[in-house]
Amino acid sequence: YQSAEPFLPSQGGIAALRKAAGSCRGCALHRDATQTVFGDGPAEARTVFVGEQPGDREDREGRPFVGPAGGLLDRALEEAGIDRDDAYLTNVVKHFKYTYRGNRRMHGKPGSSETKACWPWFAAELRAVRPELVVCLGATAAQTLLGKSFRVTADRGALLDFPPDLDIGGGPRPRYVLTTVHPSAVLRAGDDRDAAYRAFLDDLGAVAEAIE
Ligand code: URA
Ligand code: SF4
Repeated sequence: YQSAEPFLPSQGGIAALRKAAGSCRGCALHRDATQTVFGDGPAEARTVFVGEQPGDREDREGRPFVGPAGGLLDRALEEAGIDRDDAYLTNVVKHFKYTYRGNRRMHGKPGSSETKACWPWFAAELRAVRPELVVCLGATAAQTLLGKSFRVTADRGALLDFPPDLDIGGGPRPRYVLTTVHPSAVLRAGDDRDAAYRAFLDDLGAVAEAIE
């Protein structure tokens, strides 16, 4: 099966991981993407925010959450009083998956073979950063950590124990996990966008309270 595992460095911190991830061929997604988009933020962050996969802009720039969804996330973090210096941002899948519509690259949702293949990178990020809290942005991240049957709509904004059976390869574990919607879902909410944004802010308020 496909896995990033053989590409992981045997030692070193976040910088070593980022460098090694640059040449990962653990699944087929590296073929059509521009580059690996590894996590970004302070190595000692107390909170790790994890999304789905890089988008078009992230793929070009090589950094997570620099496109429209990232803009919304930045604004919401600031409004919720969460210091960006306390946050490490990453994705459960490190390469952009897309299909062409005309000459536009349309986001393609990663499947479980891809989230599984890429898991060793996220597990390694957790071991290196050692956050207290992991915030899942959207269903792909939430279900990768909490299982296929997890529903973001039912449990969003709740401070949950980090799942004891989730294998992150040893070391100290995060204490909590909290899930919310993906910022791109807020952008797509149309007429309900204000309400969707306020609900997203409420969830981030719970994050701010948890790390106070
Ligand atoms: N959406 C994500 O899930 N991650 C990014 O980095 C950008 C958009
Ligand atoms: Fe490796 Fe993940 Fe990229 Fe697949 S998506 S090639 S596992 S970094």
